This record gives sequence, C-alpha cells and structure tokens, in this order.
Amino acid sequence: MAAVRQRVKRFTRTLPGPVKTLARRALSRPLASRRLKRLVRPVRWGTLRRLEPVSARWGFDRGTPVDRFYLDRFFSFAAPVIRGRVLEVRDPAYTSRFGHDVTSVELVDIDPRNDEATIVADLGDAGSLPLESFDCAILPQTLQFVDDPRATLANLWQSLVPGGALIVTVPCLSRVDSDAGEADRWRWLPSGLGQLLAQACGPAAHVDVVTFGNLLAATAFLHGVAAEELRRTELETVDSSHAILACAMATKPSR
Ligand SMILES: C[S@@+](CC[C@H](N)C(=O)[O-])C[C@H]1O[C@@H](n2cnc3c(N)ncnc32)[C@H](O)[C@@H]1O
Repeated sequence: MAAVRQRVKRFTRTLPGPVKTLARRALSRPLASRRLKRLVRPVRWGTLRRLEPVSARWGFDRGTPVDRFYLDRFFSFAAPVIRGRVLEVRDPAYTSRFGHDVTSVELVDIDPRNDEATIVADLGDAGSLPLESFDCAILPQTLQFVDDPRATLANLWQSLVPGGALIVTVPCLSRVDSDAGEADRWRWLPSGLGQLLAQACGPAAHVDVVTFGNLLAATAFLHGVAAEELRRTELETVDSSHAILACAMATKPSR
C-alpha cells in the first residue's frame, strides 16, 4: 500500500498546477484514501461470496470439522488425566480414544432417550452427580447447552475425588446448533471460561485454559470447510483474537 501511495504521489507531481492541487486535496481526504485501499487491495471472495455455509453440518460431510481437529489436539495433551473412574457426557468418545487405565466410565445425559447414559440428569442440578466419585470428568462441547453453566461446573467439581481433573471445552465462536433450538445459548472467550471455572470450583482449583484457532480457521469453521481442506500450518497457528475453541483443565488439590 505504501509503495502504491508513493507511485500515486509521484504521478500527482507530474500533473499541471491546479489539477495537482485538486488531486492532492482529494487524496488526502480519508474517504479517498479508503476508496484507494479498496481499489488497490480488493477482496476476492471467490466461492465464499455466499449467505449459506459450504456445509450445514460443521464440515462433518466433508471431513473433520475444524473444532474437532482442535479437540483431538487438546485431548491428546489432556490424556494423562483421563484415567480411573471417568465421567463423560453422552458417549465415551474421548474416554475411549484418549483414556488409559480407565476402571469405569459413567455417561451422563439429560436426554432420557440416550440408551448409553448410565446417569440421566440435568448437570445444572446441584447434587445430581454422586459426591467425590470420579478421577476425571469430561464435558466436551456441552456447556453451551446448559441453563446454568456455573452451577453445572460446580456440580461436576463436587463429583471429583481429591486430585481429580475436570476437562471442559467450549466454543468461542461457532454457528448456532439449529437442532438444539433454544438450548444452544452460550459462547465463551477464554478469559470468561477461566473466570467461570474459578468461580465454580473455588480458589483451591488449579485452572489452565488454552485456545485454538485463527482468522482463517474461524472462517473455515463457520463455513463448514473441513480441517483437511486447510494446511497444517494454517490450522496450527494460534491467534487468540480469533480463537474458535477454549479448552480448560481444572484440577482438585489432593488431600
Ligand atoms: C454435543 S453433545 C456433547 C458430547 C459429545 N460426546 C461431543 O463430543 O460432542 C451434548 C450433550 O449434552 C447433553 N446435555 C445438554 N444439556 C445438558 C444438561 N443440562 N445436563 C446433562 N446433559 C446435557 C445433550 O443431551 C447432548 O447429549
């Protein structure tokens, strides 16, 4: 842009006196400078100039949704704490892939139609989970559906044994889950998730929050463009201003 500006400046110098003054005045106005920027660096929307996403299913129909690529990354870091008695929401997706030395798995769901659920309960109801029973509780991409996120985290926290770990992942940015209707109601920034966990788990909790995503990954994810359609370096670059996923681990002190 600076080079173009120099070229335009040089060109205006060659103009006759009064035209030169008019051209200089016009180019010094912010409106002209913005118009010049748009002319010199036009956005080429290509196939993304559309009002509907490329995939209405987050990219599941094209490959791996971008957030799921990041979830796998996070769970491979978190794998060492997925052990012993584990609680997971809906299905054992992450326990079975990343757990080790797992002695039992309880599956919790509010949905009574879930035949796999061993605990049918609203996680937001205090005491709906047994006290001090799990070494690890996994809440992947669920907090956005609950009525009371803080009460949900507090309930999960009280279900952990001393030394246990609570693993939570939330969308920072995502299309609305239209299948969930009104239930899809929250998104978090990483700092908001950290604050919520600190409030729900109390000062003794050790909370770590990490984020994944960048502008390109966010654009791809909103369109349902799959992770396989981006380059590794494009997926792996982290830009916290455009994070799409926040993942947290809160650990309870041992007695
Ligand atoms: C998107 S799934 C999350 C788990 C899944 N393994 C995953 O990785 O996406 C969300 C699940 O949370 C359940 N759910 C929503 N609100 C809940 C609540 N308040 N208490 C318990 N389960 C809830 C839904 O019924 C659904 O089975």
